[in-house]
Amino acid sequence: MPLSQVINLYDFEFMAKKTMKPEAWNYYSSGSDDEMTLRENCNAFQRVWLVPRVMVDVSQIDFRTTILGYPCEAPFYMTATALGRLGHPEGEVALTRAAGQHGIIHMLPTLSSCSLDEMTAARMPEQTQIFQLYVNRDRATTARIIKQAEARGCKALFITVDAPTLGNREKDMRTKFTDEPPTEMKGEDVQRNRGAARAIGSFIDPGLSWKDIPWFRSTTCLPLVLKGIQCAADAVLAAQHGIEGIVLSNHGGRQLETARSGLEILPDVMRALDAHYKTHPSPSKPRMEVYIDGGVRRATDIVKALALGARAVGIGRPFLYAMGGYGQKGVEKAMQVLKDELHSVMQLMGAPTLKDITADMVDVSSLGLH
Ligand code: FNR
Repeated sequence: MPLSQVINLYDFEFMAKKTMKPEAWNYYSSGSDDEMTLRENCNAFQRVWLVPRVMVDVSQIDFRTTILGYPCEAPFYMTATALGRLGHPEGEVALTRAAGQHGIIHMLPTLSSCSLDEMTAARMPEQTQIFQLYVNRDRATTARIIKQAEARGCKALFITVDAPTLGNREKDMRTKFTDEPPTEMKGEDVQRNRGAARAIGSFIDPGLSWKDIPWFRSTTCLPLVLKGIQCAADAVLAAQHGIEGIVLSNHGGRQLETARSGLEILPDVMRALDAHYKTHPSPSKPRMEVYIDGGVRRATDIVKALALGARAVGIGRPFLYAMGGYGQKGVEKAMQVLKDELHSVMQLMGAPTLKDITADMVDVSSLGLH
């Protein structure tokens, strides 16, 4: 299918499955165990219904926003996905360039195929990049990675907290990993026979805990965001620890099987945070920003997440699939598709700005929340 005929993000997935090498498809598309969480991440959006308002002037639509104070042209960001070069020779450089073209923030992964220097050199002058951190058992190595990211101009540290060990991704495990390991794996033991995830994940520290937050604060001035929060209690703990943001995420269904989707836990998390901030007002520090990722494929998904309290959503696989099929141009098109959809959905919702997308515009009765 020529790029001009692609009309939605599912088209990219269809093409990626046909054209990417099996090793890349298996690593990118896999979820853990029976892939229930992977599927439910998408299905959850279909259990939330939109309640539009009419007779609102929607001749001008504005969906610009900020993430941690950094401007972005739309309320989504490109989340961290490891091993960009498995899917396309340009890897993360193509991803970051496409994000730069669209004023979209890119979260650079620790386990990138391109080096940090390559990824940050590809940044546009006004572009914001943030850094996803896997915490190495060796804290001196972790500190070095953090300081490098900060020195290269990354604006926030997104610490992945849902991966004390890697999920059981069986589709990926049946494939031998033959690519170059990421730069950060130099000197690490790379096991190649059980898929890409096993090959690259051996160094991650299962000892990471809340006690480490002061250590991160002493190591960097960057805002800290915890990526992979999965319940209200941990969201409140993050607020109590003075964290700047959280991502409600199950790692795209690649970690704990049958974990709930970010969207489904969002109402509970927002309620718990409202209660927390009511009893612990902190005028000197802004409220934590809450993002979700997993299964976002349509602008209606984005609007649902925002209505329920998310500041922005992260998107992973669709951009990898767009890159696999069409390179940087494909990723740019994927972002344009989302922006065009968002423009139209906000008009149909009677919501000319993001502030107009409110909780009463979603019907969550089908979620069966208690
Ligand atoms: C990921 N994800 C991820 N997360 C992370 O913190 N560090 C990482 O290195 C990776 N690598 C990675 C590789 C691939 C191929 C995928 C698909 C995902 C998880 C990612 O940041 C995000 O949580 C999910 O991808 C969101 O779900 P969707 O948008 O892919 O459905």
